[in-house]
Amino acid sequence: MTEIVVEGGRRLRGTVGVLGAKNAVLKEMVATLLAPGLHRLSNVPDILDVRLMAELLSRFGVVCRRDGHELTLVVPAELRPEAPLELVRQMRASIVALGPLLARVGEARVPLPGGDDLGARPIDWHLEGFERMGAHFELVHGVLIGRVEGRLRGCEVELPFPSVGATENLMLAAVLAKGETVIVNAAREPEIVDQARHLRTMGAEITGEGTALIRIQGVDALDAVERSVVPDRIEAGTFAVAAAITGGDVTVTGCVPEHLRMELRKLAEAGCEVDRGDGWLRVRGPDRPRAVDFATLPFPGFHTDMHPQMVALLSVADGTSVVTENLYDARFRYVGELARMGADITTEWQHAVIRGVERLSGAPVLATDIRAGAALVLAGLRAEGITRVGAVEHIDRGYEDYVGKLASLGAAIRRA
Ligand code: UD1
Repeated sequence: MTEIVVEGGRRLRGTVGVLGAKNAVLKEMVATLLAPGLHRLSNVPDILDVRLMAELLSRFGVVCRRDGHELTLVVPAELRPEAPLELVRQMRASIVALGPLLARVGEARVPLPGGDDLGARPIDWHLEGFERMGAHFELVHGVLIGRVEGRLRGCEVELPFPSVGATENLMLAAVLAKGETVIVNAAREPEIVDQARHLRTMGAEITGEGTALIRIQGVDALDAVERSVVPDRIEAGTFAVAAAITGGDVTVTGCVPEHLRMELRKLAEAGCEVDRGDGWLRVRGPDRPRAVDFATLPFPGFHTDMHPQMVALLSVADGTSVVTENLYDARFRYVGELARMGADITTEWQHAVIRGVERLSGAPVLATDIRAGAALVLAGLRAEGITRVGAVEHIDRGYEDYVGKLASLGAAIRRA
């Protein structure tokens, strides 16, 4: 079994670059289903989830090829609209194939993804939206079978909460529907904005992305295009915390600092010196961070995918921090692992109280999800002695060469 072995105590220094966002590229790969032909995506990270998505698309008939950080996808005129359970289980983002398949083939067979590392994660709003657009669903032996008579119809869909997945899925269907679709209370994440821009490059008519009201005028057909993926704000934020937790000085390039406003503000409150410019940010960490409270919220609030990394930092803060997680009920599962390293954290429902300790002590721990895994490595950078992080396949889902990049900043870290 592969582990990441970290010896704590080094201050990280230097410059590190980030690649395209996992949560954007997966959806942009799926978007290729909407148009036959040769698509090209650049700035694509070589991470496990991208490989799984390529595998899923190949089951639909798409031929994917990677060349460095460029991905070419050849989409056939006829698609096989059937997703296998083993892939859907491994990668929840598979569910966004529903929208394009319904729009283009009029049929989709996708196993229900069920729960995952972060908890229950229902898709009821996706399905309600598609039903309003004229699709019918039945659940047969765990497989969701969706069908549309003729073409999907544009309509107004009001989301009870600005769900990223539901907004993307509905957008991916509405671009080829007949008439106008209005998504009310849409998610405003940068990855949604990038998705809308991507679809617009393909010929879609979309306005309002980045606001709570997205309007989509359906078109008859879309084109295959070439495009670069928006930078990964979570990868950038993770290296920002690496600087913060080691009292280091790290510049992150290839990123969009405005996408991390709240997270950088909280790092500054914790005592970091934060500078930013066009396409870069620089974080200098204090010897010991200050306690900071935060709550995870939809963009532009504090990102839930930055929560565990920030808690790792606050575990060594001077003072007590209170963290509220508003998105996922199982997000705190890693807290028990941090406790093995000496963190003093109690959780109650969706709240965590973190009493900062003076030092962490290296220990064998297990990654419980992508960001929790990244956070345990960060804690290991600060801890005394050796930390061994197991279940690293979680980290590999979302970070290309996490270990190599941290090592290039001076961390004593290796895979074993
Ligand atoms: C996406 C990201 C994930 C990120 C999250 C929030 C991907 C693959 N995942 O997840 O990394 O943490 O956005 O930025 O891009 N909900 C329902 N019913 C639905 C849909 C959502 O109840 O039909 C609830 C969810 O349980 C959750 C909340 O709404 O509590 C937000 O979920 P959503 O924004 O959809 O997150 P994902 O798209 O699953």
